[in-house]
Amino acid sequence: MCGIAGYIGNLDASSVLLVALERLKYRGYDSAGIATQENGELTIGKSAGRLKELQDIYDEQGSFGNCGIAHTRWATHGTPSTENAHPHCNTDQSIAVVHNGIIENHERLRRQLTDQGAIFQSQTDSEIIPHLLATYYDGDPIKAVQACIKELEGSYAFAAIFADHENRIIVARHGSPLLIGRGPHAMMLASDIPALLPHAHDVCVLEEGQIADIRNDSVEIVDADSNNVDPAFKKIEINFNEVSKGEYDSFMAKEIAEQPEVVQRIIDDRISNGALADIAVEVDLSQIQHVVFLACGTSWHAALLGKRFLEHYARIHVEVDISSEYRYRNPIAAGGTLVVAISQSGETADTLASLRLARSMFMPVVSLVNVVDSSIARESEGALPLLCGPEIGVASTKAYTGQLTALFLFALQMAKAKGRLTAEQEKEAIDSLLPIPELVAGTLKNAEEHVLDAVEVLAPANATVFLGRGGEHATALEGALKLKEIAYVHATGYPAGEFKHGPIALVTNQLPVVCIAPQGAMHDKMLSNLEEVRARQGRIIGVGQSSDRDLKNLSDHLFPVDLAGNELLQPLLSILPLQRYSYHVARRRDCDVDQPRNLAKSVTVE
Ligand code: F6R
Repeated sequence: MCGIAGYIGNLDASSVLLVALERLKYRGYDSAGIATQENGELTIGKSAGRLKELQDIYDEQGSFGNCGIAHTRWATHGTPSTENAHPHCNTDQSIAVVHNGIIENHERLRRQLTDQGAIFQSQTDSEIIPHLLATYYDGDPIKAVQACIKELEGSYAFAAIFADHENRIIVARHGSPLLIGRGPHAMMLASDIPALLPHAHDVCVLEEGQIADIRNDSVEIVDADSNNVDPAFKKIEINFNEVSKGEYDSFMAKEIAEQPEVVQRIIDDRISNGALADIAVEVDLSQIQHVVFLACGTSWHAALLGKRFLEHYARIHVEVDISSEYRYRNPIAAGGTLVVAISQSGETADTLASLRLARSMFMPVVSLVNVVDSSIARESEGALPLLCGPEIGVASTKAYTGQLTALFLFALQMAKAKGRLTAEQEKEAIDSLLPIPELVAGTLKNAEEHVLDAVEVLAPANATVFLGRGGEHATALEGALKLKEIAYVHATGYPAGEFKHGPIALVTNQLPVVCIAPQGAMHDKMLSNLEEVRARQGRIIGVGQSSDRDLKNLSDHLFPVDLAGNELLQPLLSILPLQRYSYHVARRRDCDVDQPRNLAKSVTVE
């Protein structure tokens, strides 16, 4: 969580950094700040609240210099306030630091530094860093950073500027992402690529344990053993349109609308001449007997469907684990196990930690990630890119459908490698996937007016239950998560068969119950659940085919979804009206859909 950025160039640093922070605010947005360096002095501007307030400060006070660092915060230690906003400084304000991560031994270090005379201004763990740097600083910032990081426990990506060093930013990384950008007239740093645009054209990923000395025309990197390392720059592939809202009112609306092309992109990448294309993983899939999926949140919901795909096609045993649980268990490393980490950001701390645990037990790890240069991608034996383009809205939408598509194709790959998919079955499975982009587009279009009608009536409800069976249980969980996180409506997703074992007690004539009941093996069972809800006067939103008379008769509102053909793929369509439902309920309730309260896009802390 938290986003950091830095700039050295020929433009006013604060203006460039305000734009960079705007692009990073999905990582945290409860306070923000900037430090610039000019003529031997540091100038700090910070504010609690939205970025607009920081912008106002700079509009009023003007700008100071062409070199600076910036931060947008998601509070861990200390409330969201101006004092706790970064940048933080040492006692005489000659060193300023922005930090992403958590310093776990901060209390001991704070006591030690206070005893030595340091005066702390905030309650944050991060403020340790400038004070520590000051104790080691003798005019050489690199030496100070090298000494400082030896004392830090936890995770960090930090950037420091020193009052007596013009046009120079020192950065260090351990456990949190940090990228260095290079352009014709500028050097930059940021937690993520979009914040480097448009000033940088090339990017270099700082590796674990490295320190970089960034100046206006050069970068020097040293590793943890003080060896010089050549910076490996590569071209930035993302373009500006991918990181702007374009004609949409929010990133969430844009990303929901992008889903047909996301699914198509994955199909085009993984299918060649009507057959599965080879995938680049350094693991012999034919030898795999057992798969463990590790993920959090929406990615975990995708994993639940990944299990169904793999069990169906490859007929192997699959476990789905929540990363934050797996990492603190004592999991069994059975021979022939493949661990598959699923993550949009590729930086989720719990998934990264469980991946490392699995590797420490000699299990091969393959990852499905959207951010290709992320830590999870780089620490896996093979990373299958999700190709969704940057997902900026905090609520995951297009990454979910992208994950389902990629998981479906991965299951086919595994089945083929294990000799459990005949050419005919491969063709049939692929043929069932090919129409999905068009069906996604059609479902989004057809469902909209029905969603709006339901929102008109149900937006004020303070709780909602989502029910589904089979693959649609994952849809129920994901639909409930969307509503909770962006509309702040208490929602619970349940396997419909479990409903009468307790939760049915919640049903009153005030409770919306979303019943996901498309055609398929579970359809009639779902209709029985609808009957039970109806008998207790619950307000039913049915999700299923518009031609389904029984469903229509039992529902107060019907969200029509097209029929996927292959029942396994139906959840790719069923989730779509529920994404739009949450979006509209949130807007009705005046919630900020792109930046819901208390959340951040990448959960890089535990
Ligand atoms: C929900 C959401 C989160 C993420 C979760 C995992 O809309 O976005 O639940 O899915 O934090 O994130 P990744 O996939 O980046 O590991």
